[in-house]
Amino acid sequence: KWPANITIKEVGPRDGLQNEKVFISTEDKIAWINQLSSSGLNHIEITSFVNPKWIPALSDAVAVSTGITRQPGVTYTALVPNERGLARAFEANIDEAAVFMSASETHNLKNINKSIRDTFPVLSDLVQKTLAAGKSSRGYVSTVFGCPYEGNVDIDAVIRVSETLFEMGIGELSLGDTIGVATPKQVQEVLQVLLKRFPAEKLAMHFHDTRGTALANILASLEMGITTFDSSVGGLGGCPYAPGAAGNVATDDLLYMVHGMGIHTGVDQEKILAASRYIQGKIGKALPSKSFQAASSQ
Ligand code: HMG
Ligand code: MG
Repeated sequence: KWPANITIKEVGPRDGLQNEKVFISTEDKIAWINQLSSSGLNHIEITSFVNPKWIPALSDAVAVSTGITRQPGVTYTALVPNERGLARAFEANIDEAAVFMSASETHNLKNINKSIRDTFPVLSDLVQKTLAAGKSSRGYVSTVFGCPYEGNVDIDAVIRVSETLFEMGIGELSLGDTIGVATPKQVQEVLQVLLKRFPAEKLAMHFHDTRGTALANILASLEMGITTFDSSVGGLGGCPYAPGAAGNVATDDLLYMVHGMGIHTGVDQEKILAASRYIQGKIGKALPSKSFQAASSQ
C-alpha cells in the first residue's frame, strides 16, 4: 500500500535558515548547498527573493544562487513574492520560482502584506512570466491545517486558493502545515477532499514538526497516494510570521523512516547526516532531528 519511490524536496537552505537568528555567511551557505547537491537530492530550495528587510537571513539570495556549483539533474528553486523578487531570481538564473500564499486571510496579510484577493493577480503575473522564461513554477499554500491567528481553516478556503494557483499554471502545489498542528486524521480528511479535485502527482506535503506529528502525517499522506514531501536537513525551519512555528520535518528522519520501509528516495542518508553536522556547527545549537541526534551520539 506504500509507493515504491518518493521524491524529497529539500527546503533547508530556505525554510531552514529563514528563521535563524545567526546569519550564516554566504560562503558557508554555498558550501552547505554544494554538499546537499551531491547527496542524490534532485530538488533543493536554496533561498528566497523576498524583501530582505523581512527576511534578513536570506538577503544574500543572488550571491548564494550564483555562487553554488550547479549539479546536472538538480532543480534549484527559490521563493519569489513579487516582481522585484522575480527580477532578482532571473538575475540569479534560478531554475524554478516558487510562489506562496496562505489559505487564511490574517496569515497572508502578516506574511506578505496583502489580502488574499490582492495576492492572486500578483502571483498570476509571476507564474506567467516564469513559464514564459522557460522555467518551472511551484506553488505553496500555507495554513492548510490551521492558522496561528485564526485557528481552524475552512477547507473551502484551501480549495479556492489551490484551484486558483493551478489555474495560473503552477506545476505542483505544496500543502503547508505552517505551524505543525495537523494530525493524521485531519490529513486524511483534507486529502480525501483535495484528491477529488487534483491528482496526487501534482501535490506535495510540507509538514512542520512543531508538535511531533510530522512523520505520522507523512505516513497518512503516503497511504493516500502522495509521493512528494518537503523536508529540511536536521529539522531546521519555521516561518517568522507564524508565531510558534518550529522546524520542518527533518530530512534525516524522513529518510530513516522511508528507507526502513523499503521506499526508495535516491538520497544518501549519510550525506544528509554530514550536511546536518556541518550546518549545526555553523548555527551553534543542537538540531532537532532525532535520527541525527542518535547518529551523532554513536
Ligand atoms: P512590502 O514591504 O509590502 O513590499 O513587502 P513593497 O512592495 O511595499 O516594497 C517595500 C520595499 O521593499 C521597496 O523598497 C521594495 O523595492 C523592497 P523601497 O522602495 O522602500 O526602497 N522590496 C524588495 N526588495 C528586494 N526583493 C524583493 C522586494 N520586495 C520589495 N522581493 C513582500 C511585500 C511580499 C515583499 C514582503 O511582505 C515579503 O518579503 N514577505 C516575505 C515573508 C517571508 O518570506 N515569509 C516566509 C516565507 S513563507 C513560509 O515560510 C511558508 C512556507 O514554508 C510554507 C508553509 O510552511 O506553510 C512556504
Ligand atoms: Mg514552511
